[in-house]
Amino acid sequence: MLILGIDTSCDDTSAAIVENGCRIISNVVSSQSEIHAKYGGIVPELASRRHIEMIIPVVDEALSQAGVRLDDLAAVAVCHGPGLIGSLLVGCSYAKAACYARGIPLVAVNHLEGHILSVFLGESAPEFPFLSLVVSGGHTSLYVAEDFGSYRELGRTRDDAAGEAYDKVSKLLGLGYPGGPLIDSLAAMGDPDALEFPRAYLPESLDFSFSGLKTSVLNHLHHRTQKTASAGPLPQKEVQDIAASFQKAVVDVLVRKTEWAIKRQGVSRVSLAGGVSANRSLRDRMKAMASERGVEAFIPPVPLCTDNAAMIAAAGYHRARRNEYAGLELNPRAYLPL
Ligand code: KG4
Ligand code: ZN
Repeated sequence: MLILGIDTSCDDTSAAIVENGCRIISNVVSSQSEIHAKYGGIVPELASRRHIEMIIPVVDEALSQAGVRLDDLAAVAVCHGPGLIGSLLVGCSYAKAACYARGIPLVAVNHLEGHILSVFLGESAPEFPFLSLVVSGGHTSLYVAEDFGSYRELGRTRDDAAGEAYDKVSKLLGLGYPGGPLIDSLAAMGDPDALEFPRAYLPESLDFSFSGLKTSVLNHLHHRTQKTASAGPLPQKEVQDIAASFQKAVVDVLVRKTEWAIKRQGVSRVSLAGGVSANRSLRDRMKAMASERGVEAFIPPVPLCTDNAAMIAAAGYHRARRNEYAGLELNPRAYLPL
């Protein structure tokens, strides 16, 4: 069963062909990072305009790399939320038009379900139930995946998502966008114990909070500028230390809270998903924690952590198997609970 997946939820235009929900035949991602970099974050209007330019070439490329035509598809799976409404509209409009023109069934996929099921595109896939930490630019949540289509949220961020904190701290440091990969690289050269940034463990809950950490980095930079009375750029070593100390605070919280969730739920499998799970330190420390606890860890390859349409096609396959098709009246939704 061949499914064309489409994701235009944020700032990447992506299309993929996936067979039976697990074999990627093509997965094309056109990044807009360069467009948004000079603003230090995504400009929604620019994102939607770029999606309009890219959607047809990106889908054509995914079909051509896979050597298939629209008529060979069992369904088109499109991400209809959550995300930026103007961006989502482009993918949904394309998908509906293609399905209408060719008489292909349409499947609507929640972006978060796509991230959770990205783990089925890796080399080894978990059995249900498993714990999934979804950690991206827009979300930071812990779920128990009980079956395909059945997810129970245990906790979520009360303010900033972890990726958002990375992007904002990167902007404060004058590094660029997206901040995650930049801070990840700088952190590898810094001292993670150079600065003591706060960790919001919220002990009674599996919720997260990262806005205090971001403010603490901001305060540190203010004090630093006042002390030296210089507004010039920080020495590279200092930037590396801030990056490493900030990253350690984020990863400490993500790993510790995942460990609590494992204990509370008594699960024996854990997975990571979303852009921040591309982070080297998070991947290593999550694996180490899982192995200490005798829990199996499933972490998708890096290109499947950040936004991609293969994960949408994989989730779409399982919906199609259950005959959960969408009508052509499908509308995207910026806020869409899983
Ligand atoms: O899943 P994703 O591609 O888009 C959303 O659904 O939000 O995640 C993007 C986020 C950005 O905030 C980016 O800075 C972060 O993932 N990210 C990283 C890394 N690579 C991407 N954060 C930390 N370390 C990385 N290596
Ligand atoms: Zn995402």
